[in-house]
Formats: sequence, structure tokens, C-alpha cells
Amino acid sequence: MSLLDVLKTNSMVMIPERYKQIPEEKMIARIKEIKKEFGERLLIPGHHYQKDEVIQFADLTGDSLQLSQESAKNRKAEHIVFCGVHFMAETADMLTGDDQKVYLPDMRAGCSMADMADIQQTERAWEHLTSQFGDTIIPLTYVNSTAAIKAFVGKHGGATVTSSNAKEIVKWAFQQKQRILFLPDQHLGRNTAYDLGIPLDQMAVWNPISDELEYEGSKLMDLKVLLWKGHCSVHEKFTMKNIEHIRKTKPDMAILVHPECTHEVVIHSDFAGSTKYIIDKIENAPSGSQWAIGTEMNLVNRLIQQHPDKEIVSLNPFMCPCLTMNRIDLAHLLWSLEEIAENGAGVNQIKVPKEVTRDAVTALNRMLVVG
Ligand code: 13P
Ligand code: SF4
Repeated sequence: MSLLDVLKTNSMVMIPERYKQIPEEKMIARIKEIKKEFGERLLIPGHHYQKDEVIQFADLTGDSLQLSQESAKNRKAEHIVFCGVHFMAETADMLTGDDQKVYLPDMRAGCSMADMADIQQTERAWEHLTSQFGDTIIPLTYVNSTAAIKAFVGKHGGATVTSSNAKEIVKWAFQQKQRILFLPDQHLGRNTAYDLGIPLDQMAVWNPISDELEYEGSKLMDLKVLLWKGHCSVHEKFTMKNIEHIRKTKPDMAILVHPECTHEVVIHSDFAGSTKYIIDKIENAPSGSQWAIGTEMNLVNRLIQQHPDKEIVSLNPFMCPCLTMNRIDLAHLLWSLEEIAENGAGVNQIKVPKEVTRDAVTALNRMLVVG
């Protein structure tokens, strides 16, 4: 379900005003108390982009791939309070048992990229593209997408991908069919395919607003990669100007970016890779090394704090955190936990319908097996 759908169905409950008055120490103490009381019956997964005030309570931290793998393994937690964004909580719900409940502390924690593709647009695009290319396309979707799109992909023989395994999954997809349709992030799709040796002129962009395929040069039948016209509004804020500035002012500084950045930024950087790749790269870097990082700001700030022996800056000095990830704060976490502790069930439960879950899990499992 997209954020817009959530708002339309009124399935969102807002935090009571009184939570805004509770002093921080009190919130911390109460969260600790509830975690102790519930033990393994409660699980708090936290994505690396979450704020420190939330991450301190996470039972497991990771990128989206690690969090889906760990959620799939956990059979003990009755309540899973997911500190991340909506599509991640949906994925956790689909990969856990029927007796395990998943909650999102603030329903406004969506992902602007996931909202750039809806199921109606996807069905229209598929009809159009298969009428042009016949049965030569396999659909792939970045996990940053709604459960309905994952289900669509599963039903049509495709798989989900994350930024950590995109290369393996795209390679696998080309063993199945001649062409891929990659949703919803054009940049991850383009950067991954380019990395695998596919030239830019064999890639086109599907515009879901005008229902048109945009491309230059190539003949239609030479196209191999059909990219959905979506992007991450956070990672698109890293620009060539930022790269030129670092090259001029800090010539010894290495530039390390996430593949959701534009192709231009990725090819002019020194290294590009997933959230986990970025963390590992910095952890394994020698003392005194210098890094300009192009990814979400909560993570960059955490890396700066954890590695005082290295010089780390954000590639864009005016960068701010992912605003939807930032919706989850101490007050929302406490509210979610107190509802569970006091009423036996939390608010804002994420429940994906069974028929959607079945096909979406097919797409997720193909990814978990291949990558
Ligand atoms: P990861 O797949 O690297 O966790 O990234 C998720 C995300 O939302 C990046 O913007
Ligand atoms: Fe979505 Fe971008 Fe935020 Fe990741 S950083 S959750 S892709 S808006």
C-alpha cells in the first residue's frame, strides 16, 4: 500500500498529544522497561537510516536486505515494531508467521520512491511493453516498492532486488529473458545494468505519467533495460557540483556513494555500493583516510561519530536526513510499545492481504535464493 492509499483509507492512527510532553529520560526509561518485560516476544528491527535515539533500542540493525532476512528467520517475536519505512514493514509482515504482528510506529513513514509506482500504472506499462516486445521481458522490483508491485513481479516470473544484491539478480534475470523491466528506481537499475556491461543506449525509461518509452539512439528492438521513471529524492540531491567541489578542495578524499545516486554521480565517484557496502568500506578503511559519502544523513553522521580517526563528510554539505525515515522518533516508538504493553495489540499494524502476500513472497524468495 502506498502512503497515499494509507491516507485514503484512514487506516492511520495519530500519536496522542500527551506524548509530546513526556521528558526524554522518562521515555527512555519506559521503553527499557517494556523491552525487559516482553523479552524475546518483542522485536525492534531498525534500518541504518533511523535516528540514533531510535537505533539505540533496535534489537537488530541492518540494510533492507539484512532486515528482511532476519525478520524471515525470527519465529519467537509476537510483536515486531518496525523502525524503518512502510515497504520494509510490509516485507517483514509477509516474511513472518501469521501469529506475528508487525507495526509501523508512524504511518507517515513512507518512501517517496516507492510511491512513484502504483499497481495500476504497472499493469498499464506491462500491457503496453509486452504488446511491443512480446514475451521477452522479466520484471524486477527494488524492495522499495509496494507489496502489490512485488506481487505483480512474482506473478510474472520476476524477483525483488535490494541495493546489495541487484547485480546478482539482474544477471539471473538475463538468464531468464532478453529484457528487464526495472521498477521503481531508474538510477539503481541503470547503474547496475551499466556495471554489468550493458551500454546506456540499450536502456530506455518508461514514463508512467505519459505511458511512453523514452529513449535515444537505439532501435526499439535493441533495448534491453526498461527503467521505471522513479528516483530517491534524497540520493538525487548529490550532484556533479558536489563532486567537483570535493575534487578541488580535498584532492585526497575518496568519494563513496549509494547506487540510488544519478549515473553521472556514480561514474564520477571512486566507489559506489549499497548501505552495507558503504558501512563495511568505512569500517575497513585505514586510520587517517578521508571520505566524502553520498547517502542518507543519519547514517553519515553515525559513521562520523563511530570513526573519529577518519575524516568523513557528507558529499553534499547541505544534505538533510530522509524525512520519512525520520518520522519514527522516540515518542512514536514509546507510543507503539505502550499500546502493545497496555492493550495487548499495537496501533498501526501492517497487514498485507493474503493473496498479495502469496505472489509477493514468490518474488522475495527468488531474491533470497539467488542473492
Ligand atoms: P538499502 O537497501 O541499502 O537498505 O537502502 C534502502 C533505502 O531506502 C535506500 O535509500
Ligand atoms: Fe525512500 Fe530514498 Fe528515503 Fe530510502 S532514502 S527510504 S529510497 S526516500
